Amino acid sequence: MAGGAFVDQGPVREYNYRLTPKVFVTCFVGAFGGLIFGYDLGISGGVTSMKPFLKEFFPHVYHKMENAHENEYCRFDSELLTLFTSSLYLAALVSSFFASTVTRVFGRKWSMFLGGLIFLLGSAFNGFAKNVAMLLIGRILLGFGIGFANQSVPVYLSEMAPPNLRGAFNIGFQVAIIFGIVVATIINYFTAQIKGGYGWRISLGLACVPAIMIMVGALILPDTPNSLIERGHTEKAREMLRQIRGTEHVEEEFQDLIYASEVAKQVKHPWKNIMLPRYRPQLIITFFIPFFQQLTGINVITFYAPVLFQTLGFGNKAALFSAMVTGIIELLCTFVSVFTVDRYGRRVLFLQGGIQMLITQIAIGALIGVKFGVTGTGNIGKTDANLIVALICIYVAGFAWSWGPLGWLVPSEISPLEIRSAAQAINVAVNMFFTFLVAQLFLTMLCHLKFGLFFFFAVFVLIMTIFMYFLLPETKNMPIEEMNRVWKAHWFWGRFIPDEAVSVGSAEMQEKTV
Ligand code: BGC
Repeated sequence: MAGGAFVDQGPVREYNYRLTPKVFVTCFVGAFGGLIFGYDLGISGGVTSMKPFLKEFFPHVYHKMENAHENEYCRFDSELLTLFTSSLYLAALVSSFFASTVTRVFGRKWSMFLGGLIFLLGSAFNGFAKNVAMLLIGRILLGFGIGFANQSVPVYLSEMAPPNLRGAFNIGFQVAIIFGIVVATIINYFTAQIKGGYGWRISLGLACVPAIMIMVGALILPDTPNSLIERGHTEKAREMLRQIRGTEHVEEEFQDLIYASEVAKQVKHPWKNIMLPRYRPQLIITFFIPFFQQLTGINVITFYAPVLFQTLGFGNKAALFSAMVTGIIELLCTFVSVFTVDRYGRRVLFLQGGIQMLITQIAIGALIGVKFGVTGTGNIGKTDANLIVALICIYVAGFAWSWGPLGWLVPSEISPLEIRSAAQAINVAVNMFFTFLVAQLFLTMLCHLKFGLFFFFAVFVLIMTIFMYFLLPETKNMPIEEMNRVWKAHWFWGRFIPDEAVSVGSAEMQEKTV
């Protein structure tokens, strides 16, 4: 196999397009899929810190929380409680594999619809929960729904978007996730104050709203041209491409899609194929991005910010409020990514965000260590507590414009059509598995590693930043069905990509490259 640098790949093609209202509205609605994920990420942390909820379902945690002051780091440590949060992610992991088939065979929109429907059922189970079993069944249903949505939405957005704006459009998914988180934390803030102790039911039950939004949204969404071609509706696909690109002159892009689909059709078993050496680069990056995204430690903040802030001595209300503030900062900072990702590229954001997170994590760990001590019986003054919240905000900002959105964007755009659905299922599954692990182990880790927990994640952030520096090719502005070019040109990955895989649609262009 020749190294990438020596193959004449021909010029990257410039497709014709206008930014049409149709593609804009379509992607806006498509991004709703992120809401159900975000709502859930944001709601469980607050609910698990509400006393009436703990008293009803996890009385032993409630008593421990009320009485035990000998070691603050351990006051919320309970595996059953973490199982409430994390069971959802295991369910999402399993369902992403079913979703990959639904997405491929029935199209992206029906995968989203199904996701919304199952999620709706889950919200009903949770809102009306009478016992822990109902709570867990509800969580599992929510997880199934999220698996479907996360598998289909990023791919949907990446396929619909014009190549030069793919990053910005795809990040709509992350914006929706964070919006869901923020809304959830605001709702928690208010429901926690409801007298009568049923506030948590409202928090959990309101998950039905994003579920209905994604279901209705999915019904009106058109399918992507790529998916229409994949399912044999060639003429519909051409028409759809014209509509979303706002021009009659879509022949070049259309031919590329047809060609990508022909190649994809020869691949009968995406799961077997993705293991072939020629897909090694995509497979490795698809695995490591979600793995690293979770090992930034972000979900320690997402799930347990209220618990963490309480551990540091904040009152319940102040803790929920601080969680809300970090969420709003994350939302605002995600827009930095929207506006820079297609201009400056993915790599620079990954590297800058990584360095920012690294520095703040070390600072947070050191500060908590010095002030709170190893036993966790020290006292953190108001100024230091505020400083910690500020540092957490800077850390969250770094994540918000790097690993957050790009953790979904990059895996959705780097694989050729023939393995795209399978690769996205791997991305979701790995992401969910490590979300599960962090959610499940965090309280125990906090109890044992104490402030060292922040150093633990810092080591991973260092490793991932070096990894990205050497191994991530820049994908900005490259048409999705021509992505093999960036792999072929990469100093390391180029050797895995066969020369003929650097394909372009038209015969004339193919002659050039073969
Ligand atoms: C991650 C989640 C995280 C969320 C908000 C997403 O990109 O996948 O695990 O909770 O961002 O920070």
